[in-house]
Amino acid sequence: MKALSEIIVICVVVQYLFDVCTPHLLINVRNQGGDILLETISSNVTDDTISLEFQRSDGTLVTQLIDFRNEVQVIKALVLGEEERGQNQYQVMCFVNHFYKMDFISSDAMSKLRQKNPGTIRIAEEDRGHSNYTMDLFLDVSRSNVISKHVAALCGEAADTTYTRNDDLKQWVQRPGSSETALMAAARNFTLVPAADRGTNETKHVSLSKCADTSNLWAPCTCSLELCIGWYPCGLKFCKGKGDGKKVVSSYRCGIKTCKKCFIFSYYSQVKQNCLWDE
Ligand SMILES: *[C@@H]1O[C@H](CO)[C@@H](O)[C@H](O)[C@H]1NC(C)=O
Ligand SMILES: *[C@@H]1O[C@H](CO)[C@@H](O)[C@H](O)[C@H]1NC(C)=O
Ligand SMILES: *[C@@H]1O[C@H](CO)[C@@H](O)[C@H](O)[C@H]1NC(C)=O
Ligand SMILES: *[C@@H]1O[C@H](CO)[C@@H](O)[C@H](O)[C@H]1NC(C)=O
Repeated sequence: MKALSEIIVICVVVQYLFDVCTPHLLINVRNQGGDILLETISSNVTDDTISLEFQRSDGTLVTQLIDFRNEVQVIKALVLGEEERGQNQYQVMCFVNHFYKMDFISSDAMSKLRQKNPGTIRIAEEDRGHSNYTMDLFLDVSRSNVISKHVAALCGEAADTTYTRNDDLKQWVQRPGSSETALMAAARNFTLVPAADRGTNETKHVSLSKCADTSNLWAPCTCSLELCIGWYPCGLKFCKGKGDGKKVVSSYRCGIKTCKKCFIFSYYSQVKQNCLWDE
């Protein structure tokens, strides 16, 4: 197999000489089912963000945004409805989680990538498997600035369907300058079902059944949605070059390592009707 460094190179000096570094990469990715998906990956060094977007063959539009400065990952899914089954044209869900810097290359390194053979169909070198995310909180998008300003920009259409986790809040609380009160105020446990929903005044932790185990189309349930990022730059590769002296061996960045990763999000769905794929 050809080293990836031959396909995707990092232009460090070159970009200042020629305008070869486009602001985004267009990558053809072959997924498990054999379909080819076109991924767009772009970075913004000022904001220190990377965003990646593609449309699945079932029409689902997936957008992933990494906000490195705030340690936030947002994954938005726009899922097309089955109109013959009475669903809306589409629904939008946003999943907001804490992000560890080492899972992706930096926005700066990303901005320096360019592609040699744009038509090439790519397969990630490393499969990072599945991660289960049990989203136990609703996130109030209008108060989400305390997490990242990008949540509101991306999730405006998912006002009632933006989710996060208590575990993520605990991570963000540790960011310098974060206010625990403000973070807690932006989120709400969804196991605490408000009184109006149950005809009583008290709020109680309830456990919901999985949509897959629910036959009532109008009952609330826990929906499960799998989203896979088929190809992303997850690390830098270093090559060794000989220095002037015989003993001096320097290493330089000469390419990227690529990964694939799937997320299984479990979240509160108001009605099973909005989760018909989970059967
Ligand atoms: C990057 O982010 C800055 C600050 O939000 C914004 O002004 C700029 O337009 C963005 N650049 C691109 C290429 O999107
Ligand atoms: C994630 O959940 C699925 C079922 O929902 C289970 O089969 C799998 O083992 C879980 N994976 C991890 C890493 O917990
Ligand atoms: C959600 O409920 C858990 C358990 O009752 C609690 O520890 C946590 O602080 C609550 N989170 C929010 C955002 O209210
Ligand atoms: C529930 O709330 C209503 C009005 O808000 C009140 O009249 C009623 O007494 C309350 N019931 C209980 C059991 O607290």
